[in-house]
Amino acid sequence: MPAFARIALTTCLLGLTAAALAAEFEAGPYLEQNCSRCHGTDVYTRENRRVNSFPALQAQVARCDANLGTKLFPEDLELLVDHLNTNYYKFDN
Ligand code: HEC
Repeated sequence: MPAFARIALTTCLLGLTAAALAAEFEAGPYLEQNCSRCHGTDVYTRENRRVNSFPALQAQVARCDANLGTKLFPEDLELLVDHLNTNYYKFDN
C-alpha cells in the first residue's frame, strides 16, 4: 500500500475511534458512579430542593462537576443536565 494511502487510512480509523469514544458517555451510569460521591439521587427529588429552573440546574451541575475534578466536555455536561431534567426536575426549557 502506498504511504499516502496508509496515512489516509490511519487518519480515518483515528477519526472513527474518537467518534466512538465521544458517543460512549452515558448520563445514568455516570451519575451513579461519580455524582453519588457526595449525595444520592434523593437530592434531586427532595421536597425543599434548591434548583428550581433549567438555568439553575445547568449552573448547579457545572458547579458539582467542577468539584468532582473529572471535568466533563460541554456536550456531556449537557447530556447530564438533560438526563436530570427528564428524570427528576422536568422543567420546560
Ligand atoms: C464534592 C461533592 C459533590 C459532588 C461530587 C457532586 N455534588 Fe452535587 N451537590 C453537592 C452539594 C454540597 C450540594 C448541595 C446539597 C444541599 O444543598 O444540601 C449539591 C447539590 C446538587 C444539585 C441540586 C439539588 C437540589 O437541591 O435541587 C444537583 C442537581 C447536583 N448536586 C448535581 C450533581 C451532579 C450531576 C454531580 C456529578 C457531576 C454532582 N452533583 C456531584 C456536592 C457534590
